[in-house]
Amino acid sequence: MRSYAGRNVYITGGSSGIGLAAARQFSAAGANVAIFSRSQQKLDAALPTIEAAKGSAGQKFLAVQLDVGNHVDVEQKMDAAVRSFGVPDVLVNCAGVAWCHYLEQTPYEEFERMMMTDFFGVRNTVAALVPFMKERGGHIVNVASILGVVGVFGYSAYCPSKFAVVGFSEVLRGELKRYNIRVSVLCPPDTDTPQLVEENRTKPPETRAISGNAGLMQPEQVAAAMIKGMERGKLMIVPGFMNWLTWTMKRLWPGFVFSFMDSDARKAQKRAAGK
Ligand SMILES: NC(=O)c1ccc[n+]([C@@H]2O[C@H](COP(=O)([O-])OP(=O)(O)OC[C@H]3O[C@@H](n4cnc5c(N)ncnc54)[C@H](OP(=O)(O)O)[C@@H]3O)[C@@H](O)[C@H]2O)c1
Repeated sequence: MRSYAGRNVYITGGSSGIGLAAARQFSAAGANVAIFSRSQQKLDAALPTIEAAKGSAGQKFLAVQLDVGNHVDVEQKMDAAVRSFGVPDVLVNCAGVAWCHYLEQTPYEEFERMMMTDFFGVRNTVAALVPFMKERGGHIVNVASILGVVGVFGYSAYCPSKFAVVGFSEVLRGELKRYNIRVSVLCPPDTDTPQLVEENRTKPPETRAISGNAGLMQPEQVAAAMIKGMERGKLMIVPGFMNWLTWTMKRLWPGFVFSFMDSDARKAQKRAAGK
């Protein structure tokens, strides 16, 4: 990995899972790392582990409690962070929540929660920080999901928020070029984090059957693939071979991917009906 010595890296959702793994890897590469999330307790537990991974003396670390879905909170806290910590060179929008269930079991509030956190959360930090970042350029990584490019059974609330992140990132790619700000969008498959544990509580059998094909990654692998993809200047970073294959097949032969998923769903429905 390239040295990030003296670079300021901001990571929303940096207190857990993929965001925390990325924070540790940027710390090991010499960056000053600031993390942002809602639970002070999680921030307090995460920050010493990020600091312990540091690659050299003199690095700075910061943990800020905020809700990415609240644009006023984001504007105020990001403004204060820029003044005390410095302008970010890298912004990783990793804060996110998930919900997986049948449409009929997905209340309105879950649609709203997914959109507010997973899409508006990305919009809010980008809108708050681009005015500062445009002075010297940088890199923004928005964390979507493979479910931001493939609509999968059970994710009627989550997928649209992640499709929105992909669309938003494609727009930013063009718009922010003039400020020398690069944009990437990370599309991980199932990753072994607290979020996956949470969504597994309500995951229908059809979704389990479909997602079982894409494999499970560790957050450290996803974070390493993200940083490698950034260094290669990639817009779409799609870690994991089966995950990449799914994305490629969806672009080239969407009908094939849909019939494959439908077949898995039918088999799961037969099993559940005892046939
Ligand atoms: N795990 C997977 O299978 C998977 C697959 C594809 C994509 N992703 C995406 O990867 C990203 C990271 O997920 P993860 O799996 O690493 O989950 P995780 O371990 O649960 O971490 C989520 C992080 O986001 C923070 N967060 C959640 N809501 C927030 C809010 N409103 N404001 C500020 N921070 C908030 C959490 O802290 P607090 O709760 O304290 O706020 C936590 O730090 C998410 O965008 C997720 O959708 C995950």
